[in-house]
Amino acid sequence: MKNTLAINGGQPVRKNLFPGHYIIGEEEKKAIINFIDSKEDLSGFLGGWNDKFLGGKNVRKFEDNWSEFINCKYTVSFNSNTSGLVSAIGAAGIEPGDEVIVTPYTMSATATAIIAYQGIPVFADIDEKSFCLNPIEVEKKISTRTKAIMTTGIFGHPSHMDGLLKLAKKHNLVVIEDAAQAPGAIYKNSKIGSKADMTVFSLNVHKHIHTGEGGMVTTNNDDFANRLRLIRNHGEAVLESKQQADISNCFGFNLRLTEIQAVMAIEQLKKLPQLLKDRIENANFLSEKLSQIPGIEKANVQKDCQHVYYVQPFKIKSEDLGIGRDKFIEAVSKELPTAEDRKHGHLISIGFCTPLYLLPLFQKKIAFGKNHWPFSYDKQSMSIDYSIGICPITEYIEKNEIFINDFIRPPANLKDMKDVVNAFEKVYDNKKQIS
Ligand SMILES: Cc1ncc(COP(=O)(O)O)c(C=O)c1O
Repeated sequence: MKNTLAINGGQPVRKNLFPGHYIIGEEEKKAIINFIDSKEDLSGFLGGWNDKFLGGKNVRKFEDNWSEFINCKYTVSFNSNTSGLVSAIGAAGIEPGDEVIVTPYTMSATATAIIAYQGIPVFADIDEKSFCLNPIEVEKKISTRTKAIMTTGIFGHPSHMDGLLKLAKKHNLVVIEDAAQAPGAIYKNSKIGSKADMTVFSLNVHKHIHTGEGGMVTTNNDDFANRLRLIRNHGEAVLESKQQADISNCFGFNLRLTEIQAVMAIEQLKKLPQLLKDRIENANFLSEKLSQIPGIEKANVQKDCQHVYYVQPFKIKSEDLGIGRDKFIEAVSKELPTAEDRKHGHLISIGFCTPLYLLPLFQKKIAFGKNHWPFSYDKQSMSIDYSIGICPITEYIEKNEIFINDFIRPPANLKDMKDVVNAFEKVYDNKKQIS
């Protein structure tokens, strides 16, 4: 029977896989072959105070191109967004026991970057519309120890930057935005990456554009740019030659991008505007159609902002839908296949992540060694509250309301999106079949 739900053994709405997000093509291949033929070194970095301290020709070119795209003064590339986040915390001057206010609704690295410099993450709740860190909640968590705010442009929606910057000015705080999911997102009519003190982007394989792994930090601040570069490339080795006055947090690591990654990144950046346009078109189509189903709410995009939909979030109000979120989404997922590049798992899921403070790291306050460092810094650090209920909006949304989808990734197009809409409508119209 045509209307029998796939979850009950009926024919699914679609059987053929959704297209893979294969965005590396002839342009990258050609650029890499040209680079290899040039016989240049695969990495242009040296950890000494010489003309190789800032990396090779292609790394620098990509950094310039990214700065132009964002409209900021500096881009410092890294081998991942995580490396960029850690380095931004170091560059911000975070010391043991310093508190950094952070969103709990993000990938774990946003918070663990703080711990890498032995700072103490303090979680503040999100706003229920954009799922981003709420400045009102941030203000409640500010103490004499607070040194920075770490916010995430979650799912591709920009953070509430004006509110956060206002607090930062009042309390002398550094604002870092994790924009791993939000390259090209627009806040108050300009691209994110030039308002926060530092903004961190990712080039990992799942992102809008990628080079397998990679990342970059943008800033307009000379001192932050200098410190980011020191941390990226064994800063301790060059401090004397460079005559760096304040050497705190300036020892470094090897967090460098290779020339081949940079060559790919240059080509990928050229593709980003079209990839964003296609993704947004798919997301807008799903927003319009799915929100016509009672109980399904599209993501709220704030005024003068552009969401870039790393994934597309929706909320479900079960009372209006007439069926619980988890059962409904399970039935929809049975109507639709996965994608060519996703051998396991679906392109749709309930929830996004456990609110970070509920992870064992925070529940047990165990990070470095077995003796609770850095939380054991002193009584105040050890008493930071990570108990269930500290961010009720995050917990409620994650547990009851949100689902996210990945169907929107180009080259999927509106024809593919129609299958998604048909699946939702079929399940809604036949929801009585679900026990
Ligand atoms: C919000 C956020 N932060 C940080 C990361 C880590 O990025 P990377 O894998 O480039 O280190 C990710 C990656 O998924 C992310 O989505």
